Amino acid sequence: MAAEFPVLKNDLLLRAARGEETERAPVWVMRQAGRYLPEFREVRAQHGFFEVCRTPELATEVTLQPIRRYSGLLDAAIIFSDILVVPQAMGMDVEMNPGPFFPRPLDTPADIAKLRATVNVDAELGYVFEAITMTRQRLAGEVPLIGFCGAPWTLFSYMVEGGGSRTYQKAKSWLFKYPEESKALLTRIADVCVDFLVGQVKAGAQFLQVFDSWAGELTPHHFREFALPSLTHIATSVRSKLQAQGIQVVPMTLFPKGTNTQLAHIAEHAGYDVIGIDWCIEPSEARGLVGDSVALQGNMDPNVLYGGREAIEREVKRMCESFKGRKGPKGWIANLGHGITPGVDPEDLRWFFECVHKYSAR
Ligand code: CP3
Repeated sequence: MAAEFPVLKNDLLLRAARGEETERAPVWVMRQAGRYLPEFREVRAQHGFFEVCRTPELATEVTLQPIRRYSGLLDAAIIFSDILVVPQAMGMDVEMNPGPFFPRPLDTPADIAKLRATVNVDAELGYVFEAITMTRQRLAGEVPLIGFCGAPWTLFSYMVEGGGSRTYQKAKSWLFKYPEESKALLTRIADVCVDFLVGQVKAGAQFLQVFDSWAGELTPHHFREFALPSLTHIATSVRSKLQAQGIQVVPMTLFPKGTNTQLAHIAEHAGYDVIGIDWCIEPSEARGLVGDSVALQGNMDPNVLYGGREAIEREVKRMCESFKGRKGPKGWIANLGHGITPGVDPEDLRWFFECVHKYSAR
């Protein structure tokens, strides 16, 4: 193991991830280090997006901004980076202007030859590992640090589409036209994700999340055929590689956005400790589908944060009641159902945290 780290003072997140009953729900939000924070915009005014990702000192600073601002209210830090650093590590150019843009996307399977044959994550993504180690030191044990990566299907769609998409026409044509080549590419991406996640744990990450933001764009059939195998491969291989290296296994979360009708299948077959859910399912229904086999994370609609304090309180209360059932919170990590957006008033997010503390308590 690399470094010695300060003792963790708040392990609420880790206990909930293990499915335990907690005194209240731990809470963090996806994209909590982001443009809704004036202190983040100040850093971004001076530095490019990927420059922040690639400079451990800056990535650490930005990761710590919400922890400082919401001290005592937030139960986790998530390392500042992006899911698109993996396509970069595989040899693709990615720009952020202001959304993701790939000047040379993968048009046909022949373009796979342009990717690096093997990816040395220490060489290509060592800057993320350095940022994680530095952040873990500076957190001084206040909250656990989350590492992450994008899921193979979500990364595949960016690499083929060349950016965001409304229809996923190009990425889906690959699946139907070149199914075997698509599977080979998905596996190749998954192998990089495995090494990347293992490296993040070695560097100090205490919890991992895999973001499959576009999982819900596939039919359930094609999700199972194309996306799920690589997700299972990641969960299984990360655990076995950590064990083989004598490193403590950490909880793993999958956020398969938009796959609510398949939650039972995913909980049973994907191999994750925690499943993140979006707002299109009631928490009690999600719990009914997955049983006690996994912890759940989520799921307030991020747009509620634009509805004012009364609406936020009402919706948090409703979410808490639905997740808690008749007892206290058990195996539940409070979060939004997707990332926080740039226009939110940081004080309204503070109110969200305060309401979660109040209404999720046993
Ligand atoms: O959660 C955190 O605070 C950690 C940092 C983080 C970022 N992106 C920083 C970021 C994480 C976990 C991500 C994940 C990510 N990136 C996902 C999965 C989660 C999701 O939202 O579905 C995806 C799909 C991406 C790809 C990506 N990066 C997009 C589509 C965009 C542009 C859209 C937007 O929000 O503007 C980004 C840019 C990005 N990544 C920003 C941040 C803070 C905003 C860009 C900026 O600072 O100018």
